[in-house]
Amino acid sequence: MQHIKKEIASKIAEKLNKNVNEILDNIEVPKDSSMGDFAYPCFKLSKELRMAPIKIAEDMKSEIDFGDNISKVDVVSGYLNFFVNNEKVINNIMTDVILNKEKYLKSNEGKGKNICIDYSSPNIAKPFHIGHLRSTVIGNALYKIYKNIGYNVIGINHLGDFGTQFGLVIEGYKRWGKEYNLEENPIKCLVDIYVRTSELAKEDESVKDKARENFKKLEEGEKEVITLWNKFRELSLEEYKRIYKILDVEFDSYNGEAFYNDKMSEVVNILRDKNLLVESQGAMVVPIKGYDIPCMILKSNGSTTYTTRDLAAALYRKREYNFAKSIYVTSYEQSLHFSQMFEVAKNIIGEEYAENMVHVPFGMVLGKGGKKISTRGGANLTLEEILNEAIDKAKSILEEKGNAKDNIQELARQIGVGAIIFNDLKNNRIKDEIFNLDDMLKFDGETGPYVQYMYVRTNSILKKANFNIEEMKVEDIDFSLLKEKEEIDIIKAISRVKEVIKSAADQYEPSIITRYVIDIASLFSTYYNAHHIIAQDKKLMNARLSLVYSVGLIIKECLGMLGISCPDKM
Ligand code: ARG
Repeated sequence: MQHIKKEIASKIAEKLNKNVNEILDNIEVPKDSSMGDFAYPCFKLSKELRMAPIKIAEDMKSEIDFGDNISKVDVVSGYLNFFVNNEKVINNIMTDVILNKEKYLKSNEGKGKNICIDYSSPNIAKPFHIGHLRSTVIGNALYKIYKNIGYNVIGINHLGDFGTQFGLVIEGYKRWGKEYNLEENPIKCLVDIYVRTSELAKEDESVKDKARENFKKLEEGEKEVITLWNKFRELSLEEYKRIYKILDVEFDSYNGEAFYNDKMSEVVNILRDKNLLVESQGAMVVPIKGYDIPCMILKSNGSTTYTTRDLAAALYRKREYNFAKSIYVTSYEQSLHFSQMFEVAKNIIGEEYAENMVHVPFGMVLGKGGKKISTRGGANLTLEEILNEAIDKAKSILEEKGNAKDNIQELARQIGVGAIIFNDLKNNRIKDEIFNLDDMLKFDGETGPYVQYMYVRTNSILKKANFNIEEMKVEDIDFSLLKEKEEIDIIKAISRVKEVIKSAADQYEPSIITRYVIDIASLFSTYYNAHHIIAQDKKLMNARLSLVYSVGLIIKECLGMLGISCPDKM
């Protein structure tokens, strides 16, 4: 469909002596498909041409030959409405899908280019909270979307495994370590120790001093402290990996903040050599135009900061990956940090690279009724417990339905986790997300289980009809039999899939794909409620079954890009 839009634009552009892209931007898709497939608003030209819009439209209609991809052109109140030649276009789209299958959705736009995506990145000794789950889910979707358009993607978990909190945790562990079963529940124990030690530090200055000392030793690589730090990191990582396994998420690198410990002096030196470092109350900062607060590089005690480590990471990623883009997925609360860090980075990695660093912010996760979910208040659940709760709920729904008996645990995981991911990616990421397990697990409405169920539907129709796409020859399928409005609507929606994926990538917005999957699923549901797919006429049936196959393919591939797998039964 896209190339037909371009054809229309270039013919209008030629006639009006204008730039094609300008015309292309003005071409609309009518909401109601009975008004045509494309519409060009002529009233925008009225002033310039000193003519009534209707007259402009009529002249264009009679003077331009729009070619045989267009079967009809209508003039409706200042618009030129175009109807594409359905039979021809549908045959082209369907042939393309059936011949290429998964490849129909792919492109090689990013061939030879590297993209770094920094996501999830929880902090050791602080809770892995639901905001990190969002970062994990959005980052993982972007990872898959960019892979799909041909980029070489590097998924980076920039673990928060460094910083002054470690001084405190190490101090607390030295005092009360024996009271905790770190092996069994590392994240929770470390958080508890951290909280307990910070409480004590409030009353007892000497604890603070000890903590500072510990952190200094950590920076200097002292053996005893490093051993403890390593143990905390390893045990926490094991627990994170368990969560990532449930989510089916992987990373190419776990280089966290500590990895940059020995790489920060270079950053400090570059800034110093360029005369950008300024002393402020004992700390070293870089003032930035347009910001009231400068960017802190070294604290007054000489320690580095989160920002210093991010600058070192930017330099490392430039050298190691020569990135075409470097993306950071965190909540919007870090927007200031990233915009300042990107400004300072210009002086370290050069403007061309710094301009390709992008912060992808997202909104808060709220409970039902818009209340803030916190790990302390209300349900004091760990992330793993939340995921397992979703899986258990999905399992009881499956048991109630009684359809899925064997492999029920894996099906429940796909549905439970899929429901959480789908809910997370359903709306624009910057919007706050409402987290309510019962709502997201509903089998109808705009939910993960609903679209998964539509996929399962396509599968069972194909199975029932004994239809195997691998055994079909595309020349033998008569796509001209697909004439129903519902069929044409689906096929036109299918033809948009690549544009949809491209916009999701360009706008770092997986929800564009989620919305699209919802559209396809509901178009399909309308279709099979209105028409018999398993028909008397074999030729008609094969045409319809290949459409059903295509719908299943699109849903499965798109959900896959969002990080959601499709169960084979439900
Ligand atoms: N650990 C940080 C947090 O939990 C997120 C890190 C994001 N990535 C980065 N390169 N700063 O808030």
